[in-house]
Amino acid sequence: MTKPTTTNTGAPVASDEFSRTVGADGPVVLHDHYLVEKLAQFNRERVPERVVHAKGGGAFGTLTVTEDVSAYTRASLFQKGKQTQLLQRFSSVAGELGSPDTWRDVRGFALKFYTEEGVYDIVGNNTPVFFIRDGIKFPDFIRSQKRLPHTNLRDADMQWDFWTLSPESAHQVTYLMGDRGLPTSWREMNGYGSHTYQWINAAGERFWVKYHFHAEQGVKTIGNAEAQQIVGEDTDHYLRDLFDNIEAGNFPKWKVSVQVMPYEEAKTYRFNPFDLTKTWSHKDYPLIHVGEYELNRNPINYHGEIEQAAFSPSNFVPGIEASPDKMLLARIFSYPDAHRYRIGSNYNELPVNRPTNEVNSYSKNGHMRHFYTGGETPVYAPNSVGGPAADAEKAAEGKGWESDGDLVRSAYTLRAEDDDFGQAGTLVRDVFTDEQRDRLVETLVGQYQALTLDQVKARFLWYWTSVDETLGGRITAAVTV
Ligand code: HEM
Repeated sequence: MTKPTTTNTGAPVASDEFSRTVGADGPVVLHDHYLVEKLAQFNRERVPERVVHAKGGGAFGTLTVTEDVSAYTRASLFQKGKQTQLLQRFSSVAGELGSPDTWRDVRGFALKFYTEEGVYDIVGNNTPVFFIRDGIKFPDFIRSQKRLPHTNLRDADMQWDFWTLSPESAHQVTYLMGDRGLPTSWREMNGYGSHTYQWINAAGERFWVKYHFHAEQGVKTIGNAEAQQIVGEDTDHYLRDLFDNIEAGNFPKWKVSVQVMPYEEAKTYRFNPFDLTKTWSHKDYPLIHVGEYELNRNPINYHGEIEQAAFSPSNFVPGIEASPDKMLLARIFSYPDAHRYRIGSNYNELPVNRPTNEVNSYSKNGHMRHFYTGGETPVYAPNSVGGPAADAEKAAEGKGWESDGDLVRSAYTLRAEDDDFGQAGTLVRDVFTDEQRDRLVETLVGQYQALTLDQVKARFLWYWTSVDETLGGRITAAVTV
C-alpha cells in the first residue's frame, strides 16, 4: 500500500501538488506551512562544497590483512586475518563540484577505516609526493589553481607563476603533467598515503612508514585528446564508471603495502625522509605486503554518505601516529576545522563518520547534537563518580619523536640529497618510457602556449631544463620554432 506523504514532523499531508490559496485562482496563504517547509528545506539542501577536492565519488568496502606486520604496528586493523569495513572517496583537487572528471589534475584517494579502536583515515592522492613542503604555502598554492577574481576563470599564468616560484613543486608537477594526470578511471590508478607516518608495535618500538595502494585492475591512463573528448561527453565519467562497476559486481581491488624505515635511520638518511616532495628508494626500503581491500557497496545516498563524509589525517588509532612532516602537521589542524565549518560541529555523529565502537567522549552539546547522556554521566574529568578515564596504555600513543630548539621560521635543515629537481629528473629519465616522455613534452608545450607573461614563460623553460636538460631543450625547441 502507498504510504501517506507526511510533513517533516510526521503529520499527513493533504496535497503533493497544490498550495493553499484563496479560491482556485487566488493568492497563496503564508500559513500553508507545508509549502513553506518544502521551499525552506529546498533552499538549505546544499552544504558548502569542499574548498579543495570538491568533485568526487566513493564507495564502501572491506580491508583484509593477509600478512603479519605486527612487528611494526599494534594497530588492530593491520593484524593478520583482520577484516575492517571502509569507505573510500576519490576526487579531483582543483575543480568545483560538478567540474569534469577528466580535467588534468591530481586525484584524491581518501580511505576511512571503521576499526574497533576508532576511525582511522588515510587521506592520500594518486601520486606519492606533493607540490609543497610547508603547510603555510597551501592556501597560496590552491588559489593559484582556482579562479581569477575578475574573470572568474582559471589561469595558466597564475598556475605556472606559483609553481616556477616554488621549485619544490617539480616532482609533483612532473607526475601531474605526465600520464598520471589523466587516469582512465578511479579504479585504474594507484594510491599513496604520501606522508611518512609513525607505526608503533606492541613493545612500543617506533617505525616510519609510507602507504602504497596498487590497483589490481592495473594502472591505465588516457591522452589529452581523449580526455578533452570525454569532458564534452560525460563530465561524470569516473563517477559513473565506479558506480556501474560496483553495481555489476565487478569490485575493484587494491593491494596494500608499506615501506618501513627503522626509527633511528631517519636521522641520517641521505635526504629528509619527512619531506613530502620526496619518495623513498624502494631499494633501501622495499615494499612490505600487508593485504588487500575491495570496494563492494555503492552509497545508498550520495549526500549523506559521500558529501557529508569527513576524512581527516588527524583520525589516528592506537599504534599509528604523525611524523615531523610539516605538511602533515598542518593538515592535522586543517581538516577537522574544515568539517566543523562545512558540516557542523557534531559532524562525527553522522552515520558515515560515526565510529562503530563505543564513544565515551566528554565533548557535549552544540548544533544538532543527538547523542547525549543523562544526569548519571559526569560532564567533567577527573571525577569520582565513575566517568570515563583516559588510559595511556590503551591509547598507545608512543613517544612521538625527539624535538627541541629555538622557535624559528625556516626551511628543513638540508641534507646531502635534499634538492628540488633531483627526483623529478630521475622520474623523467629512469621511470618514464620514451612514449611517456613524448607525451610529457606534448603536454608541456601545450601548457607553455597558454602562457602570456614573459617572465613566467622564461621561468617555465628554466624549471623544465632544471628537471632535465634534454626535456628542457625539447620544449624550448618546440616553442621557439
Ligand atoms: C581535502 C586542506 C594537503 C589530500 C582537503 C580539504 C581541506 C584540505 C581543507 C577539504 C576537507 C573537507 O572539507 O572535507 C589541506 C591542507 C594541506 C593539504 C591545508 C596542506 C597543508 C593535502 C595532501 C594530500 C591531500 C598533501 C594528499 C597527500 C586531500 C584529499 C582530500 C582533501 C584526498 C579530499 C578528502 C575527501 O575525499 O573528502 N584538504 N590539504 N591534501 N585533501 Fe587536502
